[in-house]
This record gives sequence, structure tokens and C-alpha cells, in this order.
Amino acid sequence: MIRVTDLYSGYGKVPILNAVSFEVSEHEMVAIIGPNGAGKSTLLKTIAGLVHPSSGKVVLEDQDVTGLPSYQIVRHGIAYVPEGGRVFPNMTVMDNLRMGAYSNRQTLKEGVLDEVFTLFPRLKERAEKFARTLSGGERQMLAIARGLVSRPKLLMLDEPSLGLAPKLVDEIYEKIRLLKESGLTVLLVEQNTTYALELADRGYVLENGRIFMEGSCAELASSDHVRKAYLGL
Ligand SMILES: Nc1ncnc2c1ncn2[C@@H]1O[C@H](COP(=O)(O)OP(=O)(O)O)[C@@H](O)[C@H]1O
Ligand SMILES: [Mg+2]
Repeated sequence: MIRVTDLYSGYGKVPILNAVSFEVSEHEMVAIIGPNGAGKSTLLKTIAGLVHPSSGKVVLEDQDVTGLPSYQIVRHGIAYVPEGGRVFPNMTVMDNLRMGAYSNRQTLKEGVLDEVFTLFPRLKERAEKFARTLSGGERQMLAIARGLVSRPKLLMLDEPSLGLAPKLVDEIYEKIRLLKESGLTVLLVEQNTTYALELADRGYVLENGRIFMEGSCAELASSDHVRKAYLGL
């Protein structure tokens, strides 16, 4: 579905990503784990067209989408859910969802709303509330829902557990599991290694802007490096 090859990216003259290569197959859920500052968000932002790569390639289903502006990336079928459940605080839940559809040059289709409200019934109850009045967990749900209304081929989730209490993390990950079961292709980046490796099919470890290891989640979870550095074992 998506193949990233030798990607270099950063901010101004500051290089962050160094020859990053990985791929995600259709219906697969791939996790990229790594510590704070490893470059996880920079990687997703570069794919999403928010940070410009200095070299390398991003190919989605045989189409080269490297360095395209973000609105075109959305149209190609990649949705990016930023970390911290970032949504438009002074817009209603409904208007936030409309914005998600708008960036794909669509008006909200009825079927799409039914789908996201089935997955997130609490958003339906709060449809006319301002996003700023939502709890942290509800905001994260809205951020994911906003990504889904563009009907993406690939959903990229940036640390969906960030800043949430354990009970809410369980709840969010249950939703992500349902999305995975529905066949959606998902690229998940997380510091929360336990959750990510439990749910994903395969994983990569990103450290200092480089892919340090890759393997099945079972392989990663049992490796000495991951156990010591990420699982505290
Ligand atoms: N807008 C920015 N300008 C300059 N440096 C940045 C910017 N955003 C992030 N960085 C730096 O890039 C590095 C990687 O950050 P980030 O991709 O956010 O890592 P992660 O998501 O893995 O925590 C960090 O050293 C961070 O300070
Ligand atoms: Mg980050």
C-alpha cells in the first residue's frame, strides 16, 4: 500500500530523519515505536505533506506522492491524525468532522457520518458541542473520526495514547482494534510500546531518526533491546 524509501527530512538545516525505509501492506497495521524526540511525528508529517523531505521517496499504490502538499496527500487517500488529539477547539464536533471531509473536497456523505458515529457514539451525543468542551479521550476520538471522514486508504495515527489516563487508552485502543478488524490499513507511531506491539502486525523501532530494528511484534517484544529500553524489563 505504501512504501517509504531512504527518506531524509528535517526542519530547515536540521536533519531529523536519516534514510528511513519501511512499508505497510494493504489491511496491515504497522507500528513504529521509538522514544520521545526520535522523529516519529516528523516522519508522519513528512508523509502527510506538512514537512518537506530533502530526499527519498513515498509511494502510495504505485503513485509517487513524495513532497506533495497536504491537501493532495489527503486526496490520494492518506489521513494523518496528529498527536494529542488536536482538533479545532472553537468549532463544534460536527464542524470539525466537516473540515475533515472538506480537505478531501467532499461534502460529508451521510454514510460516512453513520460509520463514525457507530464507532464513536459519544461524538454523536456531543455533535453540536464545541470541541474545547470535550474530555481528552473524546478529543482523541474526534481527531480519529476527522481522519476517517475522508475515507482514507491509509490511516496514520500519531501517539493516540498520549496524555490519556490508562482507562481511556484502553478505550481508544479498542476503537483502533475495531478499525483494524474492518480492514483499514493503519500506520501507528507510539511511545506506548506495550499497546502498539500488542495490536500491530509488525513493527519498526525508530531511534535518532533511523530505523534501528524491524520485525514481527513478537520478535520486537522479546528482543533484549526493546525489553530494556521500552518495556522496562
Ligand atoms: N518544528 C520544529 N522545528 C525544529 N525542530 C523540531 C520541530 N519539531 C520537532 N523538532 C525536533 O525534531 C526532533 C524529532 O521530533 P519529533 O519528530 O517530534 O519526535 P517524536 O515524535 O518521536 O517525539 C526533536 O529533536 C525535535 O526537537
Ligand atoms: Mg511525536
